[in-house]
Amino acid sequence: MKVLVIGGGGREHALVWKIAQSPLVEKVFCAPGNPGTAQLAENVAIGVDQLDKLLAFAYENKIDLTVVGPEQPLSLGIVDLFESHGLKVFGPSQKAAFIEGSKAFSKDLMQKYHVPTAAYGVFTDQAEAEAFIERTGAPIVVKADGLAAGKGVIIAQTCEEAVSAVRDMLSGNSFGTAGSRVVIEEFLTGEEASFLVITDGKNIIPLASAQDHKAIFDGDLGPNTGGMGAYSPAPVVTQDIHDKAMQQVIQPIVAGMAAEGRPYRGVLYAGLMVKDGQVKTLEFNARFGDPECQPLLMRMKSDIVPVLMAVALGNLSGIDISWHDKAAVCVVMAAEGYPGDYRKGDGIEGLEDAARIDDVYVFHAGTTLLNNRCVTNGGRVLGVTALGDSIQKSINTAYRAVDCISWKGAQFRRDIGKKALGRI
Ligand code: AMP
Ligand code: GLY
Repeated sequence: MKVLVIGGGGREHALVWKIAQSPLVEKVFCAPGNPGTAQLAENVAIGVDQLDKLLAFAYENKIDLTVVGPEQPLSLGIVDLFESHGLKVFGPSQKAAFIEGSKAFSKDLMQKYHVPTAAYGVFTDQAEAEAFIERTGAPIVVKADGLAAGKGVIIAQTCEEAVSAVRDMLSGNSFGTAGSRVVIEEFLTGEEASFLVITDGKNIIPLASAQDHKAIFDGDLGPNTGGMGAYSPAPVVTQDIHDKAMQQVIQPIVAGMAAEGRPYRGVLYAGLMVKDGQVKTLEFNARFGDPECQPLLMRMKSDIVPVLMAVALGNLSGIDISWHDKAAVCVVMAAEGYPGDYRKGDGIEGLEDAARIDDVYVFHAGTTLLNNRCVTNGGRVLGVTALGDSIQKSINTAYRAVDCISWKGAQFRRDIGKKALGRI
Protein backbone atom coordinates (compact mmCIF):
# COMPACT_ATOMS: atom_id res chain seq x y z
CA MET A 1 0.00 0.00 0.00
CA LYS A 2 1.11 3.60 -0.63
CA VAL A 3 0.99 6.12 2.18
CA LEU A 4 1.32 9.92 2.01
CA VAL A 5 2.37 11.80 5.16
CA ILE A 6 1.66 15.53 5.15
CA GLY A 7 4.07 17.82 6.98
CA GLY A 8 7.79 18.39 7.29
CA GLY A 9 8.67 18.51 10.98
CA GLY A 10 10.01 16.11 13.58
CA ARG A 11 6.54 14.65 14.14
CA GLU A 12 6.23 13.82 10.47
CA HIS A 13 9.71 12.28 10.34
CA ALA A 14 8.66 10.03 13.24
CA LEU A 15 5.41 9.11 11.45
CA VAL A 16 7.29 8.28 8.25
CA TRP A 17 9.83 6.23 10.26
CA LYS A 18 7.08 4.22 11.94
CA ILE A 19 4.87 3.80 8.85
CA ALA A 20 7.83 2.70 6.70
CA GLN A 21 8.37 -0.24 9.08
CA SER A 22 4.94 -1.67 8.33
CA PRO A 23 4.94 -4.83 6.21
CA LEU A 24 1.70 -3.51 4.67
CA VAL A 25 3.47 -0.53 3.14
CA GLU A 26 5.38 -0.62 -0.12
CA LYS A 27 6.06 3.11 -0.46
CA VAL A 28 5.83 6.25 1.65
CA PHE A 29 5.65 9.81 0.30
CA CYS A 30 6.07 12.92 2.46
CA ALA A 31 4.92 16.41 1.49
CA PRO A 32 6.97 18.50 1.84
CA GLY A 33 9.15 16.36 4.15
CA ASN A 34 12.71 17.19 5.18
CA PRO A 35 16.18 15.63 4.68
CA GLY A 36 15.35 13.06 7.38
CA THR A 37 12.14 11.84 5.73
CA ALA A 38 14.01 11.72 2.40
CA GLN A 39 16.02 8.78 3.74
CA LEU A 40 12.86 6.69 4.21
CA ALA A 41 10.31 8.17 1.84
CA GLU A 42 10.03 10.14 -1.36
CA ASN A 43 9.66 13.82 -0.58
CA VAL A 44 7.11 15.71 -2.63
CA ALA A 45 7.56 19.47 -2.98
CA ILE A 46 4.04 20.53 -2.05
CA GLY A 47 3.30 22.75 0.96
CA VAL A 48 0.91 21.64 3.70
CA ASP A 49 -1.56 24.40 2.79
CA GLN A 50 -1.71 23.57 -0.94
CA LEU A 51 -4.74 21.34 -0.60
CA ASP A 52 -5.63 21.11 -4.29
CA LYS A 53 -2.10 20.08 -5.23
CA LEU A 54 -2.00 17.51 -2.43
CA LEU A 55 -5.33 16.10 -3.60
CA ALA A 56 -4.14 15.88 -7.22
CA PHE A 57 -0.94 14.16 -6.09
CA ALA A 58 -2.78 11.61 -3.95
CA TYR A 59 -5.24 10.92 -6.74
CA GLU A 60 -2.67 10.55 -9.51
CA ASN A 61 -0.37 8.37 -7.40
CA LYS A 62 -3.19 6.16 -6.12
CA ILE A 63 -2.35 6.84 -2.48
CA ASP A 64 -4.16 4.32 -0.25
CA LEU A 65 -3.87 6.32 2.98
CA THR A 66 -2.98 9.93 3.75
CA VAL A 67 -1.84 10.86 7.27
CA VAL A 68 -2.03 14.53 8.21
CA GLY A 69 0.59 15.77 10.70
CA PRO A 70 0.07 19.49 11.39
CA GLU A 71 -3.00 21.48 12.39
CA GLN A 72 -3.05 23.95 9.50
CA PRO A 73 -4.24 21.62 6.72
CA LEU A 74 -6.75 20.07 9.15
CA SER A 75 -8.20 23.49 9.90
CA LEU A 76 -8.30 24.23 6.18
CA GLY A 77 -10.44 21.11 5.66
CA ILE A 78 -8.04 18.67 3.99
CA VAL A 79 -9.83 15.65 5.45
CA ASP A 80 -13.22 16.76 4.09
CA LEU A 81 -11.67 17.46 0.69
CA PHE A 82 -9.91 14.09 0.41
CA GLU A 83 -12.95 12.17 1.64
CA SER A 84 -15.25 13.93 -0.80
CA HIS A 85 -13.01 12.49 -3.54
CA GLY A 86 -13.14 8.98 -2.09
CA LEU A 87 -9.62 9.03 -0.62
CA LYS A 88 -8.77 7.48 2.75
CA VAL A 89 -7.30 9.98 5.20
CA PHE A 90 -6.34 9.95 8.87
CA GLY A 91 -7.30 13.10 10.76
CA PRO A 92 -10.31 15.07 11.99
CA SER A 93 -12.67 16.95 9.68
CA GLN A 94 -12.55 20.75 9.55
CA LYS A 95 -15.49 20.98 11.95
CA ALA A 96 -13.81 18.59 14.39
CA ALA A 97 -10.39 20.28 14.12
CA PHE A 98 -12.10 23.45 15.38
CA ILE A 99 -11.41 22.07 18.86
CA GLU A 100 -7.84 23.29 18.28
CA GLY A 101 -8.63 26.05 15.77
CA SER A 102 -10.63 28.08 18.30
CA LYS A 103 -9.73 28.22 21.97
CA ALA A 104 -13.04 29.96 22.72
CA PHE A 105 -14.94 27.08 21.11
CA SER A 106 -12.90 24.54 23.04
CA LYS A 107 -13.43 26.32 26.38
CA ASP A 108 -17.18 26.64 25.78
CA LEU A 109 -17.30 22.94 24.86
CA MET A 110 -15.50 22.00 28.08
CA GLN A 111 -17.89 24.12 30.10
CA LYS A 112 -20.96 22.65 28.39
CA TYR A 113 -19.80 19.05 28.97
CA HIS A 114 -18.48 19.68 32.51
CA VAL A 115 -14.84 18.99 31.70
CA PRO A 116 -12.54 20.41 34.40
CA THR A 117 -10.64 23.47 33.11
CA ALA A 118 -9.49 26.92 34.28
CA ALA A 119 -12.14 29.61 34.87
CA TYR A 120 -12.22 31.92 31.83
CA GLY A 121 -13.84 34.63 29.78
CA VAL A 122 -13.96 35.27 26.01
CA PHE A 123 -13.59 38.86 24.81
CA THR A 124 -13.53 41.00 21.69
CA ASP A 125 -13.83 44.23 23.68
CA GLN A 126 -10.81 45.78 25.40
CA ALA A 127 -12.75 47.41 28.27
CA GLU A 128 -14.60 44.21 29.14
CA ALA A 129 -11.35 42.25 29.02
CA GLU A 130 -9.70 44.78 31.34
CA ALA A 131 -12.55 44.55 33.84
CA PHE A 132 -12.18 40.73 33.87
CA ILE A 133 -8.41 41.02 34.39
CA GLU A 134 -8.90 43.45 37.32
CA ARG A 135 -11.48 41.14 38.90
CA THR A 136 -9.30 38.02 38.53
CA GLY A 137 -5.87 39.45 39.35
CA ALA A 138 -2.43 38.26 38.24
CA PRO A 139 -0.80 35.96 37.29
CA ILE A 140 -3.33 35.48 34.53
CA VAL A 141 -3.23 33.85 31.09
CA VAL A 142 -4.14 35.58 27.82
CA LYS A 143 -4.68 33.44 24.71
CA ALA A 144 -5.32 34.34 21.09
CA ASP A 145 -8.48 32.50 20.02
CA GLY A 146 -7.15 31.21 16.70
CA LEU A 147 -4.10 29.25 15.53
CA ALA A 148 -0.84 31.01 16.39
CA ALA A 149 1.78 28.29 15.85
CA GLY A 150 1.92 27.53 19.58
CA LYS A 151 2.89 31.11 20.41
CA GLY A 152 -0.50 32.65 21.14
CA VAL A 153 -0.40 32.13 24.92
CA ILE A 154 0.90 34.86 27.24
CA ILE A 155 1.37 34.09 30.93
CA ALA A 156 1.09 37.61 32.38
CA GLN A 157 2.73 38.17 35.76
CA THR A 158 0.95 41.48 36.27
CA CYS A 159 -2.43 42.92 35.29
CA GLU A 160 -0.66 45.62 33.25
CA GLU A 161 1.12 42.97 31.22
CA ALA A 162 -2.17 41.15 30.62
CA VAL A 163 -3.90 44.37 29.55
CA SER A 164 -1.16 45.14 27.06
CA ALA A 165 -1.16 41.55 25.71
CA VAL A 166 -4.92 41.86 25.13
CA ARG A 167 -4.44 45.21 23.41
CA ASP A 168 -1.78 43.78 21.09
CA MET A 169 -3.99 40.84 20.21
CA LEU A 170 -7.29 42.70 19.74
CA SER A 171 -5.65 45.39 17.62
CA GLY A 172 -4.31 42.69 15.30
CA ASN A 173 -0.68 43.65 15.97
CA SER A 174 0.21 40.22 17.24
CA PHE A 175 -1.25 37.09 15.57
CA GLY A 176 -3.44 38.98 13.02
CA THR A 177 -7.02 37.70 12.87
CA ALA A 178 -6.17 34.79 15.23
CA GLY A 179 -6.05 37.43 17.99
CA SER A 180 -9.23 39.33 17.14
CA ARG A 181 -10.89 37.39 19.94
CA VAL A 182 -9.12 36.45 23.17
CA VAL A 183 -9.59 33.91 25.92
CA ILE A 184 -8.46 35.10 29.34
CA GLU A 185 -8.16 32.49 32.03
CA GLU A 186 -7.17 31.72 35.55
CA PHE A 187 -3.50 30.75 35.99
CA LEU A 188 -3.17 27.09 36.99
CA THR A 189 -0.27 25.50 38.82
CA GLY A 190 0.75 21.86 38.89
CA GLU A 191 2.57 19.50 36.55
CA GLU A 192 1.63 19.24 32.89
CA ALA A 193 1.10 16.04 30.94
CA SER A 194 0.22 15.33 27.32
CA PHE A 195 -2.62 12.83 27.12
CA LEU A 196 -3.24 11.55 23.61
CA VAL A 197 -5.87 9.16 22.34
CA ILE A 198 -6.82 7.78 18.95
CA THR A 199 -10.54 7.66 18.29
CA ASP A 200 -13.00 6.91 15.51
CA GLY A 201 -15.58 9.14 17.19
CA LYS A 202 -16.87 6.33 19.44
CA ASN A 203 -14.14 3.83 20.29
CA ILE A 204 -11.16 5.36 22.08
CA ILE A 205 -7.62 3.95 22.40
CA PRO A 206 -5.43 5.90 24.83
CA LEU A 207 -1.78 6.21 23.81
CA ALA A 208 1.06 5.90 26.31
CA SER A 209 1.51 8.92 28.58
CA ALA A 210 3.99 11.67 27.71
CA GLN A 211 5.29 14.97 28.97
CA ASP A 212 6.51 17.96 26.96
CA HIS A 213 8.94 20.71 28.06
CA LYS A 214 7.50 23.96 26.76
CA ALA A 215 9.92 26.56 28.10
CA ILE A 216 13.17 27.31 26.28
CA PHE A 217 15.51 27.09 29.29
CA ASP A 218 16.32 24.49 31.96
CA GLY A 219 14.06 24.56 35.00
CA ASP A 220 11.09 25.63 32.82
CA LEU A 221 12.44 29.18 32.61
CA GLY A 222 12.11 31.62 29.72
CA PRO A 223 9.47 31.96 27.02
CA ASN A 224 7.35 29.06 25.78
CA THR A 225 8.31 27.23 22.60
CA GLY A 226 6.66 24.54 20.48
CA GLY A 227 8.33 22.03 22.84
CA MET A 228 12.00 21.50 23.73
CA GLY A 229 11.82 17.80 24.54
CA ALA A 230 9.47 15.05 25.62
CA TYR A 231 9.49 11.67 27.21
CA SER A 232 7.21 8.67 27.69
CA PRO A 233 5.94 7.21 29.95
CA ALA A 234 5.22 10.18 32.25
CA PRO A 235 5.02 8.97 35.87
CA VAL A 236 2.81 11.98 36.77
CA VAL A 237 0.07 10.09 34.88
CA THR A 238 -0.61 7.40 37.46
CA GLN A 239 -3.37 4.85 36.86
CA ASP A 240 -5.72 7.07 38.86
CA ILE A 241 -4.86 10.17 36.79
CA HIS A 242 -5.19 8.13 33.61
CA ASP A 243 -8.68 7.01 34.65
CA LYS A 244 -9.70 10.56 35.55
CA ALA A 245 -8.36 11.88 32.22
CA MET A 246 -10.41 9.28 30.34
CA GLN A 247 -13.59 9.67 32.39
CA GLN A 248 -13.61 13.41 33.06
CA VAL A 249 -11.94 14.76 29.92
CA ILE A 250 -11.66 12.45 26.91
CA GLN A 251 -14.93 10.51 27.04
CA PRO A 252 -17.18 13.56 27.57
CA ILE A 253 -15.39 15.48 24.83
CA VAL A 254 -15.56 12.67 22.26
CA ALA A 255 -19.26 12.19 23.08
CA GLY A 256 -19.80 15.97 23.16
CA MET A 257 -18.21 16.50 19.76
CA ALA A 258 -20.48 13.84 18.29
CA ALA A 259 -23.50 15.49 19.94
CA GLU A 260 -22.45 18.86 18.50
CA GLY A 261 -22.45 17.41 14.98
CA ARG A 262 -18.64 17.43 14.89
CA PRO A 263 -17.76 13.74 15.28
CA TYR A 264 -14.07 13.48 16.08
CA ARG A 265 -11.82 11.05 14.22
CA GLY A 266 -8.06 11.05 14.55
CA VAL A 267 -5.66 11.84 17.36
CA LEU A 268 -7.10 13.93 20.15
CA TYR A 269 -4.45 15.53 22.35
CA ALA A 270 -5.45 16.88 25.75
CA GLY A 271 -2.91 19.13 27.48
CA LEU A 272 -3.53 18.43 31.18
CA MET A 273 -2.50 20.15 34.39
CA VAL A 274 -2.20 17.64 37.23
CA LYS A 275 -2.34 18.81 40.83
CA ASP A 276 -3.25 17.11 44.11
CA GLY A 277 -4.58 14.05 42.30
CA GLN A 278 -6.91 16.09 40.07
CA VAL A 279 -6.76 16.95 36.37
CA LYS A 280 -7.69 20.18 34.60
CA THR A 281 -7.56 20.64 30.84
CA LEU A 282 -5.36 23.39 29.42
CA GLU A 283 -6.11 22.80 25.75
CA PHE A 284 -6.97 20.34 23.02
CA ASN A 285 -4.96 19.71 19.88
CA ALA A 286 -6.32 17.92 16.84
CA ARG A 287 -3.09 16.05 16.05
CA PHE A 288 -0.06 14.32 17.48
CA GLY A 289 2.08 16.56 19.67
CA ASP A 290 5.50 17.56 18.42
CA PRO A 291 7.85 16.46 20.04
CA GLU A 292 5.65 13.99 22.01
CA CYS A 293 5.09 11.96 18.83
CA GLN A 294 8.79 11.08 18.58
CA PRO A 295 9.17 9.21 21.92
CA LEU A 296 5.63 7.79 21.65
CA LEU A 297 6.26 6.20 18.27
CA MET A 298 9.63 4.85 19.40
CA ARG A 299 7.79 3.05 22.20
CA MET A 300 4.94 1.79 20.04
CA LYS A 301 5.31 -1.92 19.43
CA SER A 302 2.26 -2.43 17.19
CA ASP A 303 2.20 -1.66 13.52
CA ILE A 304 0.62 1.81 13.37
CA VAL A 305 -0.77 1.44 9.85
CA PRO A 306 -3.77 -0.80 10.69
CA VAL A 307 -4.67 1.68 13.46
CA LEU A 308 -4.53 4.70 11.16
CA MET A 309 -6.43 2.85 8.44
CA ALA A 310 -9.14 1.71 10.88
CA VAL A 311 -9.74 5.35 11.86
CA ALA A 312 -9.79 6.43 8.22
CA LEU A 313 -12.42 3.71 7.61
CA GLY A 314 -14.34 4.89 10.69
CA ASN A 315 -14.16 1.78 12.85
CA LEU A 316 -11.54 1.12 15.51
CA SER A 317 -13.34 -1.76 17.21
CA GLY A 318 -11.14 -4.81 17.59
CA ILE A 319 -7.94 -2.77 17.26
CA ASP A 320 -5.49 -2.31 20.11
CA ILE A 321 -2.01 -0.88 20.49
CA SER A 322 0.84 -2.49 22.41
CA TRP A 323 3.88 -0.70 23.78
CA HIS A 324 7.49 -1.58 24.49
CA ASP A 325 7.99 -1.79 28.22
CA LYS A 326 10.75 0.80 27.93
CA ALA A 327 11.11 4.57 28.21
CA ALA A 328 11.89 7.01 25.41
CA VAL A 329 13.32 10.51 25.67
CA CYS A 330 13.52 13.13 22.93
CA VAL A 331 15.84 16.13 23.32
CA VAL A 332 15.09 18.94 20.88
CA MET A 333 18.10 20.82 19.52
CA ALA A 334 17.15 24.33 18.39
CA ALA A 335 18.76 27.16 16.47
CA GLU A 336 20.28 30.19 18.18
CA GLY A 337 17.63 32.83 18.87
CA TYR A 338 14.66 30.38 18.94
CA PRO A 339 11.79 30.94 19.93
CA GLY A 340 12.46 34.47 18.63
CA ASP A 341 14.15 35.19 15.30
CA TYR A 342 16.68 32.44 14.74
CA ARG A 343 19.76 31.77 12.65
CA LYS A 344 19.53 29.58 9.54
CA GLY A 345 22.01 27.93 7.22
CA ASP A 346 24.55 26.67 9.79
CA GLY A 347 26.22 23.37 8.89
CA ILE A 348 25.31 20.49 11.24
CA GLU A 349 28.18 18.24 12.34
CA GLY A 350 28.10 14.79 13.92
CA LEU A 351 24.80 13.35 12.63
CA GLU A 352 26.46 10.08 11.57
CA ASP A 353 28.23 9.67 14.93
CA ALA A 354 24.94 10.13 16.78
CA ALA A 355 23.14 7.68 14.49
CA ARG A 356 25.72 4.98 15.25
CA ILE A 357 24.67 4.84 18.91
CA ASP A 358 22.34 1.91 19.61
CA ASP A 359 18.69 2.73 20.36
CA VAL A 360 19.05 6.32 19.10
CA TYR A 361 17.14 7.90 16.28
CA VAL A 362 17.71 11.49 15.21
CA PHE A 363 14.48 12.94 13.83
CA HIS A 364 14.89 15.96 11.57
CA ALA A 365 12.67 19.04 11.82
CA GLY A 366 14.19 22.36 10.65
CA THR A 367 16.96 21.06 8.40
CA THR A 368 17.67 21.35 4.69
CA LEU A 369 20.40 20.27 2.30
CA LEU A 370 22.80 22.87 0.93
CA ASN A 371 25.41 21.53 -1.50
CA ASN A 372 24.77 18.04 -0.12
CA ARG A 373 25.38 19.21 3.42
CA CYS A 374 22.73 19.21 6.15
CA VAL A 375 22.22 22.76 7.47
CA THR A 376 19.80 24.38 9.92
CA ASN A 377 16.60 25.75 8.42
CA GLY A 378 14.11 26.18 11.27
CA GLY A 379 13.74 27.00 14.96
CA ARG A 380 13.54 23.43 16.19
CA VAL A 381 16.19 21.64 14.17
CA LEU A 382 16.47 18.04 15.44
CA GLY A 383 14.74 15.71 17.88
CA VAL A 384 17.40 13.39 19.26
CA THR A 385 15.45 10.42 20.61
CA ALA A 386 16.57 7.37 22.58
CA LEU A 387 14.87 4.23 23.83
CA GLY A 388 16.09 2.58 27.04
CA ASP A 389 15.17 0.26 29.89
CA SER A 390 14.44 3.21 32.17
CA ILE A 391 13.97 6.97 31.90
CA GLN A 392 17.45 7.47 33.37
CA LYS A 393 19.04 5.17 30.78
CA SER A 394 17.24 6.80 27.88
CA ILE A 395 18.18 10.26 29.18
CA ASN A 396 21.84 9.18 29.29
CA THR A 397 21.72 7.73 25.79
CA ALA A 398 19.87 10.70 24.30
CA TYR A 399 22.40 13.18 25.72
CA ARG A 400 25.32 11.01 24.55
CA ALA A 401 23.90 11.42 21.04
CA VAL A 402 23.21 15.14 21.52
CA ASP A 403 26.84 15.61 22.56
CA CYS A 404 27.97 14.19 19.19
CA ILE A 405 26.03 16.88 17.29
CA SER A 406 26.95 20.53 16.92
CA TRP A 407 26.46 23.67 14.88
CA LYS A 408 27.00 27.35 15.55
CA GLY A 409 24.67 28.54 18.29
CA ALA A 410 22.89 25.19 18.84
CA GLN A 411 20.79 25.30 22.02
CA PHE A 412 19.02 22.57 23.94
CA ARG A 413 17.85 21.88 27.47
CA ARG A 414 19.99 19.74 29.73
CA ASP A 415 17.10 18.65 31.97
CA ILE A 416 14.72 16.77 29.68
CA GLY A 417 13.14 13.94 31.69
CA LYS A 418 14.36 15.23 35.04
CA LYS A 419 10.86 15.68 36.45
CA ALA A 420 10.16 12.00 35.82
CA LEU A 421 13.20 11.00 37.87
CA GLY A 422 11.85 12.93 40.83
CA ARG A 423 8.71 10.77 40.78
CA ILE A 424 10.24 7.31 40.44
P1 AMP B 1 -2.02 26.02 25.42
O1 AMP B 1 -1.61 26.23 23.99
O2 AMP B 1 -3.37 26.57 25.74
O3 AMP B 1 -1.77 24.64 25.95
O4 AMP B 1 -0.94 26.84 26.26
C1 AMP B 1 0.44 26.62 26.07
C2 AMP B 1 1.11 26.49 27.40
O5 AMP B 1 0.84 27.63 28.21
C3 AMP B 1 0.64 25.30 28.24
O6 AMP B 1 1.31 24.13 27.90
C4 AMP B 1 0.99 25.78 29.63
O7 AMP B 1 2.37 25.63 29.89
C5 AMP B 1 0.70 27.25 29.56
N1 AMP B 1 -0.68 27.52 30.00
C6 AMP B 1 -1.78 27.58 29.23
N2 AMP B 1 -2.89 27.84 29.95
C7 AMP B 1 -2.47 27.93 31.23
C8 AMP B 1 -3.15 28.20 32.47
N3 AMP B 1 -4.46 28.42 32.53
N4 AMP B 1 -2.40 28.21 33.60
C9 AMP B 1 -1.06 28.00 33.55
N5 AMP B 1 -0.38 27.78 32.42
C10 AMP B 1 -1.06 27.74 31.27
N1 GLY C 1 4.31 19.89 21.96
C1 GLY C 1 3.09 20.58 22.04
C2 GLY C 1 2.29 20.55 20.83
O1 GLY C 1 2.53 19.81 19.91
O2 GLY C 1 1.33 21.32 20.76
